[in-house]
Amino acid sequence: MTISRKEQDLLQRFDVAYERSQTQVMRAVERCVCGCDYGGNSWTTQREADELASILQLTPASLLLDLGSGSGWPGLYLSKTTGCRVSLVDPSETGMCFAAERAVQDGISDRVSTMVHDATDIDRMSVKFDAISHSDLLCCLPHKLAVLRACRKVIANGGRMAFTVISIPPGLGKVQYQRARESGPEFIECELEYAAMLEQSSWRMIDRRDITGRHAETCHRQISADQENREELIRLIGPTAFAERQAVWDKNLEAITQGLRRRELYVAEPLLD
Ligand SMILES: C[S@@+](CC[C@H](N)C(=O)[O-])C[C@H]1O[C@@H](n2cnc3c(N)ncnc32)[C@H](O)[C@@H]1O
Repeated sequence: MTISRKEQDLLQRFDVAYERSQTQVMRAVERCVCGCDYGGNSWTTQREADELASILQLTPASLLLDLGSGSGWPGLYLSKTTGCRVSLVDPSETGMCFAAERAVQDGISDRVSTMVHDATDIDRMSVKFDAISHSDLLCCLPHKLAVLRACRKVIANGGRMAFTVISIPPGLGKVQYQRARESGPEFIECELEYAAMLEQSSWRMIDRRDITGRHAETCHRQISADQENREELIRLIGPTAFAERQAVWDKNLEAITQGLRRRELYVAEPLLD
């Protein structure tokens, strides 16, 4: 699938974020915000990753696909805590390199594989996965239905997929909708509700949870952690980028508190052919 300019720009921004995420200050901030320091870029916290392990029923016998896994969060953590094998997939070579290094550091490289791939291409894989996870991936790409269809092709019978996603709540007026869109993430808009997309891609939704409240709490922690590490962050990225970063967190929080954004967790099983 060809990648648009907008997608390329976003992927470049992720690359920069993965480089920076390896610095001491970014790792300290991440530990305050989400509890781990894998260089994560989603709003997934350690508590949510633990929930994913249970929802996906991961054991040492499971083969997990963590799609859009960046530098390995939460796939590496899930492998470390449950013993499952994991395939990490992301178009970011930088992210995949850091993930492979972390797997070695954590002593789990024998059960981890990394692939620089687009999520829409995974249906070419011959392997079937017992579990699939993706964290705030679908709001970072335009071809959401294609990704859900590709996931359906590589899930084993009896397997499960769980994912979080940020979206615009239905029923907003024109002005509110525009503000929700501008508050991001880049590809927050979707033509269909996720429940309908799951149905169209031959998935049966078995759970759907609104986790917007937690998203707000994580945002608050992000703002405080940035302030606590202000001096070092400014040394790393400069005062302008620091101010821009704060403005992004503030805009996120404002969008949540004004009901312009929601974050949800979906769990689905494959509909049998
Ligand atoms: C919100 S980040 C999540 C990263 C990581 N899983 C985490 O939880 O921190 C979204 C990730 O999706 C990746 N991504 C964007 N477009 C993609 C695509 N078409 N296929 C696979 N991954 C993609 C980005 O490179 C980025 O690493």
